[in-house]
Amino acid sequence: MRDFLKRLPKAELHLHIEGSLEPELMFALAERNGVALPYASVEEVRAAYDFQDLQSFLNLYYQGMGVLRTAEDFHDLAMDYFRRAHAEGVVHVEMHFDPQAHLVRGIELPVVMEGLSLARRHAERELGLSTALIMAFLRDRNAAEAMAVLEQAAPYWEMLDAVGLDSAERGNPPAKFVEVFERAARLGIPRVAHAGEEGPPEYIREALDLLDVCRIDHGVRCLEDPELVTRLRDEGMVLTVCPLSNVRLRVVERLADHPLPQLLEAGLRVTLNSDDPAYFGGGLLTNYLACHEAFGWSEEIFIQLAGTAIESAFVSDRRRLALR
Ligand code: ADE
Ligand code: ZN
Repeated sequence: MRDFLKRLPKAELHLHIEGSLEPELMFALAERNGVALPYASVEEVRAAYDFQDLQSFLNLYYQGMGVLRTAEDFHDLAMDYFRRAHAEGVVHVEMHFDPQAHLVRGIELPVVMEGLSLARRHAERELGLSTALIMAFLRDRNAAEAMAVLEQAAPYWEMLDAVGLDSAERGNPPAKFVEVFERAARLGIPRVAHAGEEGPPEYIREALDLLDVCRIDHGVRCLEDPELVTRLRDEGMVLTVCPLSNVRLRVVERLADHPLPQLLEAGLRVTLNSDDPAYFGGGLLTNYLACHEAFGWSEEIFIQLAGTAIESAFVSDRRRLALR
């Protein structure tokens, strides 16, 4: 099965590029930039990754990205991830990035964009990997700031495949960002949003009704609302589910308890993703393998899951054909 899953052409639709920062690169960049780390070794970093919930992860995630300072750092971060993904049989990557998390540290948007853009070109040329870019707004900061970031990104609007919504979900409903997402819609930029990871099914409804998203990131809590499940199925809405993330952030206790089988049973369009692979125990192949172990799924199910990801990726029809 490992060989089959490795060879299967896989697309990653839900990946935070800052969450792909492995402790080894964190140390190398800390040294390059003279940044002090609160850890003595990579082992100590990994030992600290014992999360109680989303917020306890986010605290370390925002701290870890403090080593990213120059365009070269962002390039190296993304290339490091793209090489690992390529080695796992990933053929297409859609990466979220969090500009506000860098702006508050004094790292300007052009620095981030230059580094990520160069890495995307290298990945395409050297690895034959296609990539897409999703600029995410931090939902635990105010909407005016998100709007200002969207305007500031004007020189890069053409390069954005979508905007997204991430960070601490509880208490930060999609409704807070209606105007920002309306502005993105008027600019012709597609929209996605994290909803129903820790937050209630109502947040999934809001993301659909108020933000007009074309995909829901996570969405696993939809099962608490049977009418919503029917709606998601009828609309063919894609959920970008992140199995190992949900275990590590204690959305579920064990992978065997994960609602993935029920989501599939309900006829929903589900994809598997790694979310923050450096923090949650592995990349896309590791997530596929863990699901095989937990659910005993056949090759056909994995072909379906990988196919759904390619169907709903932000790529041209021509590239979509080449990905299969
Ligand atoms: N930012 C990075 N990973 C995230 C996650 N799993 N949920 C919300 N925001 C995030
Ligand atoms: Zn995420």
